[in-house]
Amino acid sequence: MPLFDVYPLYNVTPVSGKDILVYDNEGTEYLDLYGGHAVISIGHAHPNYVEAITNQVNTLGFYSNAIQNPLQKQLADKIEALSGCKDYELFLCNSGAEANENALKLASFKTGKARVIAFNNGFHGRTSAAVAATDNANIVAPINAQQKVTFLELNDVEGVKRELEKGDVCAVIVEFIQGVGGLDQGTTAFFEQVDALCKANNTMFIADEIQCGYGRSGKFFAFQYYNVTPDIISMAKGMGNGFPIGGILIHPDIEAKYGMLGTTFGGNHLACAAGLAVLNTIEEEKLIENTNTISEYFIEKAKTIPQIKNIKGKGLMIGLEFDFEVGELRKKLIYDEHIFTGGASNKKLLRILPPLTVKKEHVDQFFEALKKVITKNKETV
Ligand SMILES: Cc1ncc(COP(=O)(O)O)c(C=O)c1O
Repeated sequence: MPLFDVYPLYNVTPVSGKDILVYDNEGTEYLDLYGGHAVISIGHAHPNYVEAITNQVNTLGFYSNAIQNPLQKQLADKIEALSGCKDYELFLCNSGAEANENALKLASFKTGKARVIAFNNGFHGRTSAAVAATDNANIVAPINAQQKVTFLELNDVEGVKRELEKGDVCAVIVEFIQGVGGLDQGTTAFFEQVDALCKANNTMFIADEIQCGYGRSGKFFAFQYYNVTPDIISMAKGMGNGFPIGGILIHPDIEAKYGMLGTTFGGNHLACAAGLAVLNTIEEEKLIENTNTISEYFIEKAKTIPQIKNIKGKGLMIGLEFDFEVGELRKKLIYDEHIFTGGASNKKLLRILPPLTVKKEHVDQFFEALKKVITKNKETV
């Protein structure tokens, strides 16, 4: 049976991984500066992670949300301890889109309103309300288009004010560092004014931390660079280091009611074991500190490459903007230099999203390879 052909694939078949390295079916080693799209936070096959999942699956892999599962509370407490987000409540699900879907649904339940404000070039997932709030007409089907979403430019405070004052907006959803769109960020004044406008207009402020959260930005959450208090924080990618898990942190002003949200698989024992192993490792190995150290080192090196016109992002969510489209460059990095990197909607942007365990020697290896590929490119022109 053929696979439904929705993914343009690179011709590489990874079969194993160890920390920041991945090996294909012929034994070729690759440097993973993409982290399977910002998912691999503590490195491939981390021993703590393998042990935690193995022990859990050998004990109890799954039971439904109809019983007590103390692992969910342990995970909630650990998120609170590492993020410093006091007083939030945790709801667990299975993916980023599902986290945003639940966030938007809660915002609508809480306010009794239905319209959403989202931003140009934002990406929030592929399910009903999440995809409607995503700025990409190609992935919004007619069934999704019934959602009421208004898109504004990042930094358009006046636009947000105008729309919120109409009284029908349940949520403003924003990525504090845009991922798929290409690493753009709003200004401090913008984020802080939007936060205040939401509070003044009975609108929920949703921080989509699915890509930029969990230490990737150099703080636990990217919104923590600003003086804002989101009503709902959505999380996924780095949370399970590849095990499917997502979640939302919910401000206690939003009151839970039985049946309001629910899922069969969300928060299952195996997912919680994976999630706990990730947080324990982030803490034990000081991976947020490492993120900041390596980020600084990476950016200093990037500044020495004349073909890089702009460096975007924070922490280990870095965008290198060239004055040419990077599709061919990415292919050469993979096939000739054996380095995975990411692309973005902005075709001139190379995205760097390595595991947070990355070291200076890997950064050096990347820049040597990049220089080689750029020089070769020049010679062939
Ligand atoms: C910021 C952001 N939100 C939501 C999502 C959707 O997550 P998922 O693919 O797990 O549904 C993504 C995925 O790339 C994302 O980057």
